[in-house]
Amino acid sequence: MAYSEKVMDHFANPRNVGEIPDADGIGEVGNSKCGDIMKMYIKVDGNVITDVKFKTFGCGAAIATSSMATELIKGKTIDEALKLTNKAVMEALDGLPPVKVHCSVLAEQAIKAALSDYYKRKGIDPTHIVGAQTEDCDHCTSCTLD
Ligand code: FES
Repeated sequence: MAYSEKVMDHFANPRNVGEIPDADGIGEVGNSKCGDIMKMYIKVDGNVITDVKFKTFGCGAAIATSSMATELIKGKTIDEALKLTNKAVMEALDGLPPVKVHCSVLAEQAIKAALSDYYKRKGIDPTHIVGAQTEDCDHCTSCTLD
């Protein structure tokens, strides 16, 4: 299985690893197939994600996609972050092997879960803003772990 240089770089030197103690939103998602877990913390000022950190208990591709996803939403508006797809994260990493596509789904879901938490803390129902949250990546047809 060949990984791009960017995947290897973000796996070996992941950006934005850690926690934000006074986070405005925290999202935790898990993949029921492989058991990997991703937790994402965001700070929001107005409509802008000013800081983001993550912890991933998972495979190298999950770490690389979390790292790239945090880089792609840092300093962006909530609207822009909500539009970030796992496909865009994969493209930014110059691709992932097909068997690892589901790992990038975890990164997209973690961002959405953190934003849902952000809205819930403000007393706003996030369903219509963020969309329905799924517990795992069962909707993803690319997974070949079965
Ligand atoms: Fe579980 Fe990659 S996220 S194998």
